[in-house]
Amino acid sequence: MTNTVFPALAFEPDAQAAWSCPSNIALVKYWGKKAGAVQWPANTSISWALGDLRAQTRLSYRKGIEPGSLEFFLDGKRKESFEPKIRDFFQRVYKDDSCSTALREAIDGGSFRIDSSNNFPHGTGIASSAAGFGALALCLADLQQQWDTQRPLQMDLASRWARLGSGSACRSLYEAPAIWGLHPDVAHSSDDYAVPHTGAVASSLQGWKDCVLIVDAGEKSVSSTQGHALLDSNAYAQVRFEQAQENLGQLLVAFEKGDVESFMEVVESEALQLHAMMMVSKPSFVLMRPGTLAIIEAIRAFRSETGAQVCFTLDAGANVHMLFSPVDENRIVNNLLPSLLSHCQDKQYLCTALDRGPEKLSS
Ligand code: PMV
Repeated sequence: MTNTVFPALAFEPDAQAAWSCPSNIALVKYWGKKAGAVQWPANTSISWALGDLRAQTRLSYRKGIEPGSLEFFLDGKRKESFEPKIRDFFQRVYKDDSCSTALREAIDGGSFRIDSSNNFPHGTGIASSAAGFGALALCLADLQQQWDTQRPLQMDLASRWARLGSGSACRSLYEAPAIWGLHPDVAHSSDDYAVPHTGAVASSLQGWKDCVLIVDAGEKSVSSTQGHALLDSNAYAQVRFEQAQENLGQLLVAFEKGDVESFMEVVESEALQLHAMMMVSKPSFVLMRPGTLAIIEAIRAFRSETGAQVCFTLDAGANVHMLFSPVDENRIVNNLLPSLLSHCQDKQYLCTALDRGPEKLSS
């Protein structure tokens, strides 16, 4: 259990739980939902945990006081604008089959206070929802376990609930690569929750790092909800979903064989397919900025000149995730990275390990 400092409370809670949870970066992307349940993915995705980019969240519960009330504090300041989304999230958990009677009674009849903070700066364009919903789902699963010891706190339950908050959040619950969505090559894979990759990962694909190059620190120009919905009318959607399934299979083979070339090829293709889908949507969105392209070109040129094991991926925005092997860390950090910073807003970047999962905190 890690020690943390949350703000002191003016009341004695009846129950409390605190967790930290990383954000994650998809290697094969989730973009598009399928009908059937809340946030089921149209294709399987796989991610690495952004181990050092984390949310820490404490959930405090009081019975009988202002039943149904929920307050959210970010860095000690009340953020009422976040509360409707979190209330909806609690209602989705409430309606889920795996929610215990005790937790339902608490959601109905008690009040909750959430204290959360991210350890990465605001205004970097890095989505905090995966880390935030991951941590909050863990806190709820922890309370459920405190009240019903027959139900141990299992990561697949927390993952299932995190999905109800934000789809990609369900992949933040594991130290190992996380796979979400049914796939014939992945035993126990599910659309309901992510599972840790239990197959072999050769040493050449272990210990990789990510430097996130902040090309644009602003808010996303298209929300995920809008973005996923655009796939419903996108003529290329079905082909894209099939490609993602193939890419996932190929990536797992690359992990097993330690085939770095094939890994980098799949990862870059996935990033560009995500953006291609946005460009051919109606309405269409171009989310890359000139700096994004300049960085992509520089990474590819450095790789072809030096043979370094470095590649890029993108989220639904302009920032570039530069992924690299520990074998080449020195030359990438000392030679390549400094040359990319002129394309970053205020020269901002954040580097992280990719193999640290959730941690229980002392509240
Ligand atoms: O979890 P959402 O609904 O915000 O979707 C995020 C989707 C991408 O980040 C663009 C890709 C992914 O798989 O994480």
